[in-house]
Amino acid sequence: MTQRVPALDLVSHSPDQTRQFAATLARHLRGGDVLLLQGPLGSGKTTFVQGLARGLGVREYVQSPTFILVMEHRGTLSDGTPIRLYHIDLYRLEEARELATFGLEDCLSDPAGITVIEWSERLPEHWVDEYLVVRFEPLADTKRRLAFFPVGERARELVEALRKEVVGGAKRSTAPGHRDG
Ligand SMILES: Nc1ncnc2c1ncn2[C@@H]1O[C@H](COP(=O)(O)OP(=O)(O)O)[C@@H](O)[C@H]1O
Ligand SMILES: [Mg+2]
Repeated sequence: MTQRVPALDLVSHSPDQTRQFAATLARHLRGGDVLLLQGPLGSGKTTFVQGLARGLGVREYVQSPTFILVMEHRGTLSDGTPIRLYHIDLYRLEEARELATFGLEDCLSDPAGITVIEWSERLPEHWVDEYLVVRFEPLADTKRRLAFFPVGERARELVEALRKEVVGGAKRSTAPGHRDG
């Protein structure tokens, strides 16, 4: 589905750094954007969504939707435009047809909605065609790798904006795969 070499490769050393990366990305988001979060339990996906929420000015505490598949939060873009943050967790998804029952299509087609999906590995491929995959990998106790794989021009723009803010304008000076602590 995605290329092997990420467009951006970050290492987070704490839950708050993961939230910071997400909050930085959030300031570049707009309605219609779709983020797909992948990686094992405890790798930091929900923590990342908390940072997105922070960056979007969402007031309530964000935790994974457990008994329902989607949580809707109200927030604002950096220019003040109101948006809805749809936080979806497919961990408990049993069959693809459940996607229709909770209205995933409505989330994705909301022009004022930003859709973030945990366990998007369980999403059948045809559901979205432009999106940003963030793959979370535990490296140590409080260390996580965040690898960004954009699909489509809009997602590439987002990654570029994030890259400029967190690593600066210059291309990585280290070889791909070499990440200093
Ligand atoms: N660098 C880090 N980034 C994100 N979470 C971290 C980090 N270091 C430790 N953690 C911890 O790992 C856990 C991640 O949980 P969570 O975000 O719910 O993961 P997931 O949604 O992928 O199951 C939390 O307990 C968090 O405090
Ligand atoms: Mg989670």
